[in-house]
Amino acid sequence: MRESTTRRGIAAHPPDQPHQSVLLQEVMDALAPSPGGIYVDATFGDGGHSQAILQRIAPNGKLFALDRDGSAWQRNQTLLETWSELLTPVHTPFSRLRTVLNEHGITTIQGILFDLGVSSPQLDDAKRGFSFQYDGPLDMRMDQTNAAAPFNAATIVNTYDKEDLADIFFHYGEERHARRIAQAIVHDRQKMPFTTTRQLASLLERIQPYQPGQIHPATRVFQGLRIAVNQELQELQTAMDDALALLAAGGRAVVISFHSLEDRIVKQTFRQAADPEQANNTPFAGPERLRQPKKMISDFHLLTRKPILPSAQEIARNPRARSARLRAIERLPSNPSPAHNETTP
Ligand SMILES: C[S@@+](CC[C@H](N)C(=O)[O-])C[C@H]1O[C@@H](n2cnc3c(N)ncnc32)[C@H](O)[C@@H]1O
Repeated sequence: MRESTTRRGIAAHPPDQPHQSVLLQEVMDALAPSPGGIYVDATFGDGGHSQAILQRIAPNGKLFALDRDGSAWQRNQTLLETWSELLTPVHTPFSRLRTVLNEHGITTIQGILFDLGVSSPQLDDAKRGFSFQYDGPLDMRMDQTNAAAPFNAATIVNTYDKEDLADIFFHYGEERHARRIAQAIVHDRQKMPFTTTRQLASLLERIQPYQPGQIHPATRVFQGLRIAVNQELQELQTAMDDALALLAAGGRAVVISFHSLEDRIVKQTFRQAADPEQANNTPFAGPERLRQPKKMISDFHLLTRKPILPSAQEIARNPRARSARLRAIERLPSNPSPAHNETTP
């Protein structure tokens, strides 16, 4: 989820509020969970989407819920206990999806949901260092126990060279002033290393004073650092590919993304699955008969040609939903019904 400021730069969500599941009804419509099915919630968070799935797959379905943040499991003990018969919680990054399911003897699933980014409790906990609105350690690790990802945002800011910092801010944060910011960081950290979110946010406010009507000057740099610390784009690409491979006939994958870098990966992966010929028609040298692209038939079908966006009412109720985009795809049922419609907004 994106940083919690409105375009005016003021808090858009009261701190310490529980996470409000985004596009809940739209997710249920697109995923269409049915009793007895095997489903995956790849981003459990506070379990709002999981709970809605569980209610629909009861009494004998199965839900594997993944989250790389151990605190998600501690916060939601009651939910885990209530649904213990149907729900299998797994503390893991979703790039391990296929391995985790294989370990449970599962090779196909009826549906999977990804609700990307961070949850409100993560964002609002100053100690996690995700938000420039609170003063906390410059951390940003989704999994603070993961030995495989021991570096945090402070490590990147204090040790990466100017070019790497600029690349992170430019490519992962889509920050226009990436080079200038990287230069300033490298200069300032010689006097004192960056250890807190406020320290970094102050530098960013100095370089690019806040203008009313624009996003806060720290928004993009914080996004870039969070993506780099958690390897978010690599995680997503791996998991997307695995999710599609795991879908049974008639199975569906639903993804909510919160910024254009994530959305691009989802859009391209889904388009390529639904229309491999399009993705595979680059001309190549060789005998004439091989130059004609083979007719490739896809067994995937886009449920959303355009992303589904939250309604004005949802954004008013939950401003953090405002940049959400939902895309969904289905592996064609073995006997498609004539009324096989897209879930368009
Ligand atoms: C937006 S929240 C999900 C909220 C949830 N759908 C709900 O209704 O409460 C995203 C969650 O995904 C987790 N997450 C993000 N990237 C992940 C990854 N690569 N692997 C596993 N979990 C991840 C975060 O730790 C966070 O708890």
